[in-house]
Amino acid sequence: MAKITTKRKKGTVVLTGASSGLGKVLALELAGAGYRICALARNADKLADLVKKNPGMIAAYAADVTDYASVESATAKILKKHKSVDVLINNAGIFHTAPFHEESVENIDKIIDTNLKGPMFCTRAVAPSMVARKRGRIINISSVSGINGIPGQAIYGASKHGLQGFADVIGYELREHGVLVTNLCPGGIQTPLWGAHNPYPGESDCLTRCEEIAALVVHILQQPDRTLYKKVVFFPKTEWHSDD
Ligand SMILES: NC(=O)c1ccc[n+]([C@@H]2O[C@H](COP(=O)([O-])OP(=O)(O)OC[C@H]3O[C@@H](n4cnc5c(N)ncnc54)[C@H](OP(=O)(O)O)[C@@H]3O)[C@@H](O)[C@H]2O)c1
Repeated sequence: MAKITTKRKKGTVVLTGASSGLGKVLALELAGAGYRICALARNADKLADLVKKNPGMIAAYAADVTDYASVESATAKILKKHKSVDVLINNAGIFHTAPFHEESVENIDKIIDTNLKGPMFCTRAVAPSMVARKRGRIINISSVSGINGIPGQAIYGASKHGLQGFADVIGYELREHGVLVTNLCPGGIQTPLWGAHNPYPGESDCLTRCEEIAALVVHILQQPDRTLYKKVVFFPKTEWHSDD
């Protein structure tokens, strides 16, 4: 894949879950494409390592998306510094697979708080400034688990189905205010999410690469705002999801 090298500043992006996996690659690739990245995650050391890779374009804001006060405080700092936010990417997420009858109540809280309430909190904190400017884009990293029922993913799937419902409504509401909402629904991506506790059930060589998704995000951000990319579903060809 061709390296994205343009340096002209194209806008301010608030990106959650930037300390690892897809978020880290999105931060580096979007920064390389000229976007100013406000990188959110809980792990300040990992964020500091990320900033070192492109200090001119990436800044760290340690925040926990499950805690509205933490999100609001980071957002206030970002808005004070940059005056506006052009793009919010709700990427932070956690995954766990188990038959639901064996799941812990603690996991129900953690996964719903992170994957569903997290994007709601970040959107609630950022969207008013976009509405005031009558422009902005919100991109949610959902999953094929947000459009299909996948055994072993009851809580994760519920969180991502909830994110789809949330996006459907705010997408409708916010477009009248010049803000476009897109849900990306990937299948398996090659990231640390597939660790020892969550082994990928297919061939790991077939997993979608983070760089492919970064290129898709850059493509969407560069489109004229007359066209709304509502939902993009994609997955390794070794998976199959009917999207019904
Ligand atoms: N990997 C896949 O196959 C796959 C497929 C479809 C969709 N997705 C989605 O893609 C997104 C990124 O996943 P990934 O594979 O890149 O996972 P990952 O490598 O485990 O990264 C998850 C990121 O989310 C952050 N995060 C988790 N809880 C957080 C919290 N409470 N507050 C702030 N940040 C938090 C983590 O940072 P800290 O720990 O530093 O907070 C980390 O940066 C997720 O939404 C996931 O559901 C992944």
